[in-house]
Amino acid sequence: MDLKELFTGTKQLVGLDIGSNSLKLAEIVSTSHGHILNRFLQMPVPPGTIVDGVLEDAGALSAIIKELFRDSGCKGKGIVISLSGSSVIVKKVTLAQMEEADLRDLIRDEAGKYLPFDNMDDVNYDFQILGDNEYNPSQMDIMIVAAKKTDVDGYLDAVTAAGLTVMIMDVDSFALETMYEANYAFEDNEIIVIVNIGANLTNINVIKGGMSIFTRDFTVAGNAITEGLQKKYHVSADEAERMKIEGVPGGEPGNMDLRNTILDCADPICSEIERSIDYFRSTFGGDYIKHVYLSGGSSRVVGLKSHLSQRLNIETELINPLLKIEYNKKNIDTEKLDSIKTIGAVAIGLGLRKTGDK
Ligand SMILES: Nc1ncnc2c1ncn2[C@@H]1O[C@H](COP(=O)(O)OP(=O)(O)OP(=O)(O)O)[C@@H](O)[C@H]1O
Ligand SMILES: [Mg+2]
Repeated sequence: MDLKELFTGTKQLVGLDIGSNSLKLAEIVSTSHGHILNRFLQMPVPPGTIVDGVLEDAGALSAIIKELFRDSGCKGKGIVISLSGSSVIVKKVTLAQMEEADLRDLIRDEAGKYLPFDNMDDVNYDFQILGDNEYNPSQMDIMIVAAKKTDVDGYLDAVTAAGLTVMIMDVDSFALETMYEANYAFEDNEIIVIVNIGANLTNINVIKGGMSIFTRDFTVAGNAITEGLQKKYHVSADEAERMKIEGVPGGEPGNMDLRNTILDCADPICSEIERSIDYFRSTFGGDYIKHVYLSGGSSRVVGLKSHLSQRLNIETELINPLLKIEYNKKNIDTEKLDSIKTIGAVAIGLGLRKTGDK
């Protein structure tokens, strides 16, 4: 990479994916030749800090954010974070065509109708016009995104206490869409599904022609596998987590048994994914899905990819957030690339955002 480009390229915001299992920082530099991942760092989050998407220990989170930024060498102070799971609601509605200002008033007055909140004063929301409705051009499709102020404030406070400023509040599934757009070529009507399986949460995002048309988050993910192993082998959570990732000493056949058990424990995740995709197919007219892309730490479960592929009858592969994005070899170890590709999708999607874009 040309050093000069590093300095002339636009400095973007820093992506910070606040996962319940680990934080991920992604700093991207955009040049006329494309995007470069300049820095990436992951740092574990102590259990109990974020429980079921709710921030339980803002002090602990703030301390790790500080450490993460210090250790990464990242100088940027403006960051992008995301909400997911029960802390955010994404809702598509269809309304009559109108000017954006009128729409803003209408949504302010009537958002309560579309969103499951009693008091809209407690809610932060925003919306985006997706375009004309496919079936009725006198109407337009709108995406409303809403989150309870208390949920958002906790994260904002933790970030502020770490000496940083949140410039954009994004949503996990939209970050996946941004990352996909930057890396993959797609046709207008092509439908693909990104499934991000983390520790507490699985995000499903159905994308048509580069635009999100259906999203769903559910709280069955890697932790469910760990809990399954705990019960089956009567071990502690830490021990089960270690077995899941590192296997057991002594090689085969013990590890083959373990791998089968892990895949069995992953069954509830697969069932939920299948149910979400069935729901999508039934509501959206059974559209043809070209690919399922897996991401997230739990996509590493051996055999999961082929199991899902058979079950869904859709070609399934691991996503590659660095398909078209270069990386800075001075800051990023080549050995870390596989791990970054697995766990970095959301952080990279966030790091691609710039101030002022929508
Ligand atoms: N090799 C592996 N095999 C199986 N599971 C793995 C492996 N490596 C990591 N995991 C699991 O991946 C999960 C962490 O993934 P990820 O970093 O995507 O989660 P997160 O973003 O921190 O959590 P969430 O978004 O759910 O709050 C953990 O449950 C961990 O046990
Ligand atoms: Mg995550």
